[in-house]
Amino acid sequence: MKKISLLLSLTLIALSVIAQSVQSPNKNFTLNFNVQNGVPTYQLIYKNKVIIKPSTMGFELKDEEDFLKGFTILDIEQSTFDETWQPVWGEVKEIRNHYNEMAVTLSQEESARKMLIRFRVFDDGLGFRYEFPEQQKLTYFIIKEERTQFAMVGNHTAYWIPGDHDTQEYDYTTSRLLEIKNLMDKAITSNASQSPIRGAAVQTSLMMKTDKGLYINLHEAALVEYPCMHLQLDDTGLTFQSVLTPDAQGNKGHMQAPRHTPWRTVIASDKAADILMSHLTLNLNEPCAIEDPSWIKPVKYIGVWWEMITGKSSWAYTEDVPSVQLGKTDFSKTKRSERHAANTEHVKEYIDFASKHGFDAVLVEGWNEGWEDWFGKSKDYVFDFLTPYPDFNVVELRDYAKSKNVQLMMHHETSGSARNYERHIDKAYQFMVDNNYTSVKSGYVGDIIPRGEKHYGQWMVNHYMYCVKKAAEYKIMVNAHEAVRPTGLCRTYPNLIGNESARGTEFEAFGGSNPDHTTILPFTRLIGGPMDYTPGVFEMDMLTRNPKNDSKVRSTLARQLALYVTMYSPLQMAADFPETYNKHLDAFQFIKDVALDWDETLVLEAEPGDFITYARKEKGADNWFVGRTNDEEARTSKIKLDFLDAKKTYIATIYRDQKDAHHKTNPKAYEIEQRDVKKGDDLSVFCAPGGGYAISIIPK
Ligand code: NOJ
Ligand code: CA
Repeated sequence: MKKISLLLSLTLIALSVIAQSVQSPNKNFTLNFNVQNGVPTYQLIYKNKVIIKPSTMGFELKDEEDFLKGFTILDIEQSTFDETWQPVWGEVKEIRNHYNEMAVTLSQEESARKMLIRFRVFDDGLGFRYEFPEQQKLTYFIIKEERTQFAMVGNHTAYWIPGDHDTQEYDYTTSRLLEIKNLMDKAITSNASQSPIRGAAVQTSLMMKTDKGLYINLHEAALVEYPCMHLQLDDTGLTFQSVLTPDAQGNKGHMQAPRHTPWRTVIASDKAADILMSHLTLNLNEPCAIEDPSWIKPVKYIGVWWEMITGKSSWAYTEDVPSVQLGKTDFSKTKRSERHAANTEHVKEYIDFASKHGFDAVLVEGWNEGWEDWFGKSKDYVFDFLTPYPDFNVVELRDYAKSKNVQLMMHHETSGSARNYERHIDKAYQFMVDNNYTSVKSGYVGDIIPRGEKHYGQWMVNHYMYCVKKAAEYKIMVNAHEAVRPTGLCRTYPNLIGNESARGTEFEAFGGSNPDHTTILPFTRLIGGPMDYTPGVFEMDMLTRNPKNDSKVRSTLARQLALYVTMYSPLQMAADFPETYNKHLDAFQFIKDVALDWDETLVLEAEPGDFITYARKEKGADNWFVGRTNDEEARTSKIKLDFLDAKKTYIATIYRDQKDAHHKTNPKAYEIEQRDVKKGDDLSVFCAPGGGYAISIIPK
């Protein structure tokens, strides 16, 4: 007996020293794990080259011994998984979830506690998470900091935004890793930062490129009951260290075993296109939890929205600010503003336009009481999500929209008061069901109430999930703005059809975004899930809408069309005014035609920061749509139509920049060409600075 146990402990010590490995099914990736001097350490190899140097793993805990050292390996289990599943909506019809797994149980002898690290190695990268099994010496615990390293092998180029506990609405900076620290202050001050971490902390999904042309993406998957992770460079400037979002007390995660963390992910390839085509993030999420998701449908919508964003119209009913009064505002005695856009007659015009052009839904913002407080003296303003302004007739609009076969999209601006929202949520969702609202755009502008909580902290992560689950009970689809960036949860809850969680089109009316912004977002923000980017602006000069707004959209009109293909989302808005579209009905035709749901997706050209060209085949149809987004340089895109069906001939309608188009000086210079095309044809299309193109390819 003694001999056996001695043998066992010798083997376990040996196990701890010799690396334990697991490879991807195609053998491109090798994950090595070992315990070095008691410290759990992993390393990642891609095509025989190290891409993550030995990196340590663990936790600092509050009021108890850390989970950092003193570990030995107790058990190792290896397994394989291979399954193909169908997303409710998506970029492709079927997704293969194929990986080799290694689950390592670690024992920290002194504290008599256990921790498990589960690695999954896919053909496109690695996911790993920490698990805390049920055990006597670990029940309820508080994380002080997660200590997961990602040690880079060189001074890679990174496409990054500053770490911030409350917002992702930043323009990207492209720089070397070693430059991040020095560029950080500039990146923060030139943006709408809220609570930046400073130092050299960046947000995920983080995209990088090595000098050898390897593309590496770091992110997380299935962020549930845990704070959002950012990455902080250490003093060497090349090793990232996880930093979690604190709660109001500065703690970083309240845990109760059995529990686990989200997955930490590394997607890598020598082809940029593979990063865009990776399904690793979705695969690391749980299967669909909604038993019958047939009510979840992609949505193309217009909205009473861009008017307010440009400053032409107002959300608030009144320009007078009654918030200094005590008690409820008496709107019957309050002067209505001419600028209040959410009024019955005006909303009917939008419904007419939606109905005429085949849109699914109309979003209306500024319909409910409370906005005047926000613009007034009071900093705390809260909504009840039930009480319309006097000029917004809920029942009349419900019936009118129904008669026109158009749904209404609800708007719930929570003003960051998440507790207030939770208190009203059942009534608010029931009100939607009663009045023909099938989806909700929610928002969390401003500091979070309860005070001290952060948009990306564990408390708010739980809140967003609560809303999505609650909405599913009412068969409501959710599009949450200002929420934590997505991590593939839409696989489990496909009623989460959109998120903002990045710098969207609205910033084009607040001074503009870098012209290369939409060549980076698909490599970063979109890795976790779709974005409600709200493209389709055809009038680039904001002075035409509001004499006080001199912002200009830094895009050509042709590129605005391309975004419906390049910025994948089952939820797509046509943001501009109906009257603008009426002036360009030829170009508007593309927005009407473009599909929202896909059987196939191909990346034809891609380089982060420079350009991306996608081709997608409409779900259940033979129509293809191509979109190309270009950075600030003029370029020519060369694509081959070898994805078409050889047995068919097609009509291609090409919406492209004219030769003298330029996002600054001549953004509306587009031209439309129709021609017959067939499989194997070559196309060469000019893209202006800040330009791009869109093509619909329809069988004859
Ligand atoms: C910010 C959102 O991104 C925007 O779309 C919305 O109109 C405003 N908040 C008001 O809720
Ligand atoms: Ca560029």
